Parts: sequence; C-alpha cells; structure tokens
Amino acid sequence: MRRVVFNQKGGVGKSSITCNLAAISADAGLRTLVVDLDVQGNASYYLGVDIHCPQMISPEASIAHLLRQSASAWFSSAQPAISFVRETHFPKLDLLAASPLLSTIAPELESRYKIYKLREVLDELSGEYDRIFIDTPPNFNFFSKTALIAADRVLIPYDCDSFSKQGLNQLLENLVDLKQDHNPKLAIEGIVINQFNPQARLPGELIAQLKNENLPVLETYLTSSVKMKESHHARQPLIYFARQHKLTQQYQTLFEEIEKVEHAFV
Ligand SMILES: Nc1ncnc2c1ncn2[C@@H]1O[C@H](COP(=O)(O)OP(=O)(O)OP(=O)(O)O)[C@@H](O)[C@H]1O
Ligand SMILES: [Mg+2]
Repeated sequence: MRRVVFNQKGGVGKSSITCNLAAISADAGLRTLVVDLDVQGNASYYLGVDIHCPQMISPEASIAHLLRQSASAWFSSAQPAISFVRETHFPKLDLLAASPLLSTIAPELESRYKIYKLREVLDELSGEYDRIFIDTPPNFNFFSKTALIAADRVLIPYDCDSFSKQGLNQLLENLVDLKQDHNPKLAIEGIVINQFNPQARLPGELIAQLKNENLPVLETYLTSSVKMKESHHARQPLIYFARQHKLTQQYQTLFEEIEKVEHAFV
C-alpha cells in the first residue's frame, strides 16, 4: 500500500506526518519505505540523512538518481531500484532519500512526459515493502503530481487556519482532475488535523465547517507539542523518541484509524 502525504501549503506537517506514520508502521513490524520527493530533504534529514552535507555518504542513493536512471534509455547498465534505497537506524524502516539533483531533473522529466516513472519504480519495489509513505514538496508541481499518480491513497494535513481552508478547495479540485486523468484508483484517505489546539475557538469552527461540507476529516487530531521539534532535532521519530507521549499516542491512533478506513470519498 502506498500513501502520499500532500498539501500544497507549506509548513502544515507533511514531513512530520510522513516520517512519524512510517516509523509507527515499521515499529508495528511492517516493512516500510519513506520516499522523500522534496528537495528541502526534511524527511531525509529527520531519518538520518543530511542531503546538503558535502561529506554525505553515497549521494547517488536517492530517488532523484533512481528516477533519472529509470527515464534514461540506457537500460543495459541499469541498477535495480533497491540499490538506491538506504537503511535507516530504525528497524524495518528504509529511505529513498531526496537529493539536490531533484531540481535539476524536474524540467527534463517533465518535458519528456516521465510523470509515470515513479509509479514504475515503486512497482518494482512493491515486493520488498508492506507500506510506502511519500513526502511531497509544498507545490502542486511535477514531483507532487508524480507522487499522486504513484500512490493508492492521499492524506491531506490541515493546520486549522483560514489560509488552509482557502487552499483546500483548490487542492481537492486538483486531486479530482488528477484522479480522472491519471490515477483512477487514488482514494482520499482523509484530512489530518495537525497542530490542533483544543483551547482556541477558531480550530473547532474551521473543522466544523469542513465536516458540514462533508469533507473526510479523520477522527484522530494531532495536537501541538514541543516534542515534535525536539524529535526533529534528535532525528528520531516520536515512536523512538518519546513513546509514551500524548502526541505519539495520537499518531498511533491515527495509524490504526487509516489502516481501517474505507474509501467512499472521491
Ligand atoms: N503536532 C505538531 N506540534 C508542534 N509542531 C509541529 C507539529 N507538526 C509539525 N510541527 C512543526 O511545524 C513545522 C512544519 O512541519 P513540517 O516540516 O512537517 O511541515 P511540511 O508541511 O512538511 O513543511 P514544508 O511544506 O516546508 O515541507 C515544523 O517546525 C514542525 O516541527
Ligand atoms: Mg516537508
């Protein structure tokens, strides 16, 4: 099963949600892969790989290098997709890291209609993994589209502010178009409420508005906690960093919820 975490709005929690759900999946014994399609490399960094470090080991072990190879005509020298994957420090959790090369190859892949390449390389890896989580950039660009085409389900992080609400309608329209044109099996798994503050009035109102519009808001809300930034700093997802913490428990409940969601929406 492949999930993409996407919202074109920046800073809503895409990378945090990708890595923490993936870590919980791995901790539950599922062979899990994170694919980092954002040139910022935040998910890679969180899982132990700093793509901007000049002394980085094996910089070519990245999703960008794999996509470039897959799009090239020289199949005779092709390496298997698994050789681009890195193990992380965490059991059963692997990474297809981002790379600065992502920016270089995007125009070339786009101009040569290579938008299905990610789906093909993940098909090649499907026997190796029970769950794949894809982190996306904060734009509806080539890489987020390629991820939405490669995935079975999309999770939409939502940070309960008015700008998020404005962007959400456009996002849903884009998803419906992409589904019709490129990936009919894509299901919207749900909207993940992130950085929820139960004491404030506005988040509750905004969530009620989403529900009134029959949008698929997931039941488990992720509250705001300083533990998230601490866990980024320690480069350890919450399940390893603070297993008993309230936010970690919410993540676990969210994982259980999405594993049993039925997909009536879109
Ligand atoms: N539940 C939370 N509680 C507190 N802070 C959080 C929570 N979730 C995310 N954050 C913080 O919000 C910021 C943005 O999170 P993150 O990088 O995961 O978002 P993003 O959508 O991936 O951003 P970008 O669009 O830049 O890729 C980070 O500083 C992160 O620590
Ligand atoms: Mg991010």
